[in-house]
Amino acid sequence: MPVLEWSDTLVIDNGVMDGVHHAFLDVLNRMAEAQGDDLIPAIDAFIAHTEDHFAQEERWMEATGFPPMHCHYNQHQGVLEVARDVRKLAKDDPRYGRLLAEAVAQWFADHVATQDTWLAQFMVQEGYDPKLLDDPKAVPAKKADCEPAACGSC
Ligand SMILES: [Fe+2]
Ligand SMILES: [Fe+2]
Repeated sequence: MPVLEWSDTLVIDNGVMDGVHHAFLDVLNRMAEAQGDDLIPAIDAFIAHTEDHFAQEERWMEATGFPPMHCHYNQHQGVLEVARDVRKLAKDDPRYGRLLAEAVAQWFADHVATQDTWLAQFMVQEGYDPKLLDDPKAVPAKKADCEPAACGSC
């Protein structure tokens, strides 16, 4: 049974982000349902996908100077840290794969509604063309003037 299914509440209206998030739910649900010898490869696939997903958003945050980038970045890194720890535990107790997926599903719905939505809106506001999101020449790089501990506003 999936831990999270795609719905309108997850739509950000940014084609690139929505596509990545759709794929994120696929690897998340595969991890939730994996059994036996399939579990560790499913966790590895989840971690690999999530590293790319988060790194892409972090490139956009740096390029646009997204004000709460440190808060957003810290959330990403926290999820990856937990996932890597759980991978070790899941070798001895396969229930951890499902528990990780359930916890990430809860976190993700909130993350999309806040940090990812704010990032998408900020990119539009700053004239960062969503079609050129990964082109470093799309906008001049900016530096966020937040303190690293800043979270949510600057
Ligand atoms: Fe995201
Ligand atoms: Fe994010």
